[in-house]
Amino acid sequence: MINYTVDSEGIATLEWDLPGRPQNVLNEQSMAAFADAAQKALADPAVKGLLVASAKADFIAGGDLEMLQKANDAQAMSNNLKQWHKLFRTLETAGKPVAAALNGTTLGGGLELALACHYRVAADNPKARFGFPEVTLGLLPGAGGTQRAPRLMGIQPALLFLTEGKRIKAAEAQKQGLLHAVVAAGSERGAARAWLLEAAAKGGKTLQPWDQKGFRIPGGGVMTPGGMQTFMAGNALLREKTHDNYPAPRHILSCVFEGMQTDIDTGLAIETRYFVNLVTGPVAKNMIRSLFFFMQEANKLARRPKDVPTQKFTKIGMLGAGMMGAGIAHAAATAGLEVVLLDSTKENAEKGKAYSAKLLEKRVAKSQLSQDGAAAILARIHPTADYADLAGCELVVEAVFEDRALKAGVTKKTEAVIGADALFASNTSTLPITGLAEASSRPASFIGLHFFSPAEKMPLVEIILGKLTSPATLARAMDFVRAIGKTPIVVNDARGFYTSRVFGTYLSEGMALLQEGVAPALIDNAGRLAGMPVGPLALADEVSIELVHKIASQTRKDLGDQYVPRAADQVAALMVDKLGRLGKKCGHGFYEYPADARKHLWSGLAEHFPVLAEQPSLETVIERLMLIQSLETVRCLEEGVLTSPADADVGAILGWGYPPFRGGPIGQIHTLGVANFVAACDRLAEQCGARFRPSESLRKKSAEGSQFFPI
Ligand code: NAI
Repeated sequence: MINYTVDSEGIATLEWDLPGRPQNVLNEQSMAAFADAAQKALADPAVKGLLVASAKADFIAGGDLEMLQKANDAQAMSNNLKQWHKLFRTLETAGKPVAAALNGTTLGGGLELALACHYRVAADNPKARFGFPEVTLGLLPGAGGTQRAPRLMGIQPALLFLTEGKRIKAAEAQKQGLLHAVVAAGSERGAARAWLLEAAAKGGKTLQPWDQKGFRIPGGGVMTPGGMQTFMAGNALLREKTHDNYPAPRHILSCVFEGMQTDIDTGLAIETRYFVNLVTGPVAKNMIRSLFFFMQEANKLARRPKDVPTQKFTKIGMLGAGMMGAGIAHAAATAGLEVVLLDSTKENAEKGKAYSAKLLEKRVAKSQLSQDGAAAILARIHPTADYADLAGCELVVEAVFEDRALKAGVTKKTEAVIGADALFASNTSTLPITGLAEASSRPASFIGLHFFSPAEKMPLVEIILGKLTSPATLARAMDFVRAIGKTPIVVNDARGFYTSRVFGTYLSEGMALLQEGVAPALIDNAGRLAGMPVGPLALADEVSIELVHKIASQTRKDLGDQYVPRAADQVAALMVDKLGRLGKKCGHGFYEYPADARKHLWSGLAEHFPVLAEQPSLETVIERLMLIQSLETVRCLEEGVLTSPADADVGAILGWGYPPFRGGPIGQIHTLGVANFVAACDRLAEQCGARFRPSESLRKKSAEGSQFFPI
């Protein structure tokens, strides 16, 4: 794992090269091998200096997430980390100079190892990034990052760097004090070697700044006016942003606060305790599972039918240049595809292209894109009102008005022009795909691609299979979704598909609470404190109460006797039919939207939904808003709408901003334990009604003591 060589001038090179893996990672085996090599070099009198390098395209990607995901023995983890700290401290204090030659990306544990070297030189590699992404997976840098970074960068810059998980370029890392030098790519080892020889020639012990007499933290310590202000403001900001749902950034703050008031060895011991608390706790497990492993599976197209050759897309058609069509066209053109953007008139189509022009202008203004780059993207969008222009498109996505007959018409017109092997996709948000495919002469090539608004930004695409959609169509549609850089989940055709159906339960539970007399401010605050991006009433306003009402009315019509009325139906009917409060779009919903002031809850709500004298606890409201989503997700799995719990959790996080610290609707059940979840639902069913009654399969799972996920 570590290639070890000593050259004629006494420089030992310890080259990281994990066999069979695309990237170097820190785990028990690789660290043991590195420790052996380091001890050998330190003990060899012929060795004057140590050069740490990588044989891969990048330096080290970080800690091994498989190892971290499995970690549940706090004592073993703590012992392990103590060994790593001891090794890093030995490198720092043994006297021989140690340099890191960073050829590429250096993240997490890789950066921590680099910071434990006396000298760090990076290649001027435009792809290389430096950072501590641990916090984005519910962890903190546990190999000394929280102690060494602030001692190099200063407390405030280090706190931002550690709690935001940002990845910066080499030049910025040098500016921030993390690197000593950036040199032309390919010459980093030479530069490190030159420094080592010079340091060795000087004689004496090479030491880190914090091991030298008179060391001071750059910018001042904790007990300075600046330091105190940083922690006071930092705590408040963090609380506002995370509602204390995410322990990692809070623990990082504590590591730095406590660690900067003591020596580095004590600081490292403090860091270990906070790290072990995180790595063995549920939040990191949930975040690593959903945001890393499940997301990786989805992006690697784990559910793509095999044996279908990968399709490359060069030209697609977009029907409808409205809000969704313009966004999808923008995403595809940005990814390098030619887009024929068709609307009922050329002017409408031009408007869709103008939307792209505006977005590109903003990116140019922010120096994220060159003028030429923007012009090239824009030139790929071809507005038209002529169906003949769709000839040669490999895929056509339909996003015209949500109207069955209209959609049938544009499907027929399109199929008359496109090639026999082209795909047709509908972006409908509510109409079953199987029904829409009836207008198609080749339903096997007909599929649902449900984007989210704003389509150029939102990362998820819910792929919906009609009854007749072929596996090859699914495979090729998945290729398209990846080609435009989005993440797909695959669901079977059903009312509301997966995302709208489960997301809808959050809205309707919020409205049911209102109907029962729960204070509207309590309802929406509970939603946000639960980690949802917006409270349910505010969200109903955003998507429009009118739409909620329309969907409920349509569903009632379609299902007839089978329809189970919901409290939310009455609320929506009253708001829309009687009060004319349609939501944000008309300026009046559960909230008022004054032109010159912030939105605020509508004072008239109290008249129509009198507030109970005795209010439920915050915990009860949160429980209802969150458990109802998990229950509906399980129903989707049982009915075969969803085929995997991984898709459920990825779809929820990316689709409607479900809080990642809970893992996802299924991750939440897993965290509670199925038996506890079932017991809580039974209790809620007694109090609130049958919608909370858990299914037989959940009861069975609970009785068997089985879980949704192994970890
Ligand atoms: P929109 O009203 O902004 O755009 C629809 C566009 O279709 C308009 O530009 C209209 O001129 C054009 N159009 C109408 N008839 C046409 C025809 N015969 N030929 C060509 N173009 C025609 O609507 P929006 O919001 O973009 O929605 C479009 C579709 O996407 C709907 O099916 C909707 O349910 C679905 N959807 C909407 C989402 C949203 O958040 N708005 C999210 C996901 C899906």
